[in-house]
Amino acid sequence: MSQLPCTQLPAWSALSRRFESHGRDFDLREAFASDPKRFDHWSLQAPFVFADLSKNLIDSTTEALLLDLARESGLQAHRDAMFAGERINNTEQRAVMHWLLRAAPADPSMPAQSVHKHMQALHHEVQHVQSQVLEFAERVRADDALTDIVNIGIGGSDLGPQMAVRALSDQCMPGKRLHFVSNIDGHELSSVLKQLRAQNTLFIVASKTFTTLETLRNAESAKAWFLEQGGAGVERHFVALTTNVAAAADFGIETCFGFWDWVGGRFSLWSAIGLPLAIAIGAKGFRAFLAGAHAMDEHFRTAPLQANLPVRLGLLDVWYRNFHGFTSRNIAPYHSHLQRYPAYLQQLEMESNGKSVNASGQLLGTGTAGVVWGEPGTNGQHAYFQMLHQGSDVIPVEFVAVKTPTHQLAGHHDALLANALAQAQALMLGQADPGGHRHFPGNRPSSFFLLESLTPQSLGALLALQEHRVFVSGALWGINSFDQWGVELGKVLAKDVLGRIHSGRLDGLDGSTEGLMRQILANTAKQDEPGF
Ligand code: F6P
Repeated sequence: MSQLPCTQLPAWSALSRRFESHGRDFDLREAFASDPKRFDHWSLQAPFVFADLSKNLIDSTTEALLLDLARESGLQAHRDAMFAGERINNTEQRAVMHWLLRAAPADPSMPAQSVHKHMQALHHEVQHVQSQVLEFAERVRADDALTDIVNIGIGGSDLGPQMAVRALSDQCMPGKRLHFVSNIDGHELSSVLKQLRAQNTLFIVASKTFTTLETLRNAESAKAWFLEQGGAGVERHFVALTTNVAAAADFGIETCFGFWDWVGGRFSLWSAIGLPLAIAIGAKGFRAFLAGAHAMDEHFRTAPLQANLPVRLGLLDVWYRNFHGFTSRNIAPYHSHLQRYPAYLQQLEMESNGKSVNASGQLLGTGTAGVVWGEPGTNGQHAYFQMLHQGSDVIPVEFVAVKTPTHQLAGHHDALLANALAQAQALMLGQADPGGHRHFPGNRPSSFFLLESLTPQSLGALLALQEHRVFVSGALWGINSFDQWGVELGKVLAKDVLGRIHSGRLDGLDGSTEGLMRQILANTAKQDEPGF
């Protein structure tokens, strides 16, 4: 990547000038009027994902400048370094190789992934562990006594598997209930435990580091509950997914599936962390999921920049964030099974690129990741779409829809698709009522992703697409997208505060924390009074 902050690259200045002359006042309606083939020019078929980018505030001159920025920032070399296994996560001195986990396509007609020679031994190891995980998943599927599977994990050890299991719920095996517990708030675990019988439950303790407070607390409580219920055979009912096999063994878990430090937490769904999904959709389904992602990896690795969907999306993200000044993007999945997709993308994008310094530690002085948020359509329409249409901020919307549903109910899917298309249309076209309450300014940008249907392959491709677009914007900004130091300070302080809640020691605290602690401690004291 470039050693210079992105704002000092020549293309950045050219883009600033372009924004003043042809960006600020760009009008989508005029763009369509002057180019009847705009849809064809601005849509792209990537593996399993068709993307219509035509309703974005961009023209070909601006895109050419953004491509210059990509070249000047060293995007291609950075991408190639990832696929060569170089330690591009420089602050942790780690390679970034989640793509290697999906490098063996299930479908032999897929293009072969060229795994560099020096990585082939590692690739074999990956495939060996993968086979063990998938064999275990098949054993769980065949074990009728195991009716409930509880995944205990947080962040990347929760959001990915939970989102994917929900997304593919129509393909999930009947007779197995999957639960996800992430929050240290005991309300969550206790409400799941109420539904379980110890002898019918498998607990999966998922933690890359096996040091995460929330997960360890929940796992301890689950184990205590299991023993209290007379559960026998912890080894059969608890399994760990972690890179820290020793810590899992200390915890008393014998069955453990490992992975590698070069798999970031938010990129770990493809590793052993995907076990809940493998149990839900089976080994064949999971391999198809990997194959879909692999096809997108190949597209990202080999397609020319201007025909490369992750690249095009990453360029747009930078154009919107840094030149238009848009601070968020709405995610609008028109598929109710994609309920947790926005939450998954929040971690993927905001934990990766929510940073203010570049990889060399220099302050960037410009915006990076904005806020990613959303809910499935059409529910969002009846909540916050008002703001998307008439609010004071422009918020680009990213629609996802499928052509073919997996249900048979008449009259639903056409109406769903009509809503999605109409919303995108209304955002762009607007409606004139100058000065009136029915005025829609229009010219509000959106992208539209269309999948044939929601399958393991298409979901895998969609997620890999999102991973790589985050890679692209991160590379353009010159930041390290693969560390997450920003979450550490809160963890350290929480330990201190917990100690103080136990000891009642308040010295040296800031005024607000001290005041709140006094309230909490007074309540604890009250609860200790007889008759409370
Ligand atoms: O707190 C952030 C984080 O480190 C995420 O990056 C990670 O996905 C999550 O915590 C959970 O970590 P682990 O899998 O190690 O428990």
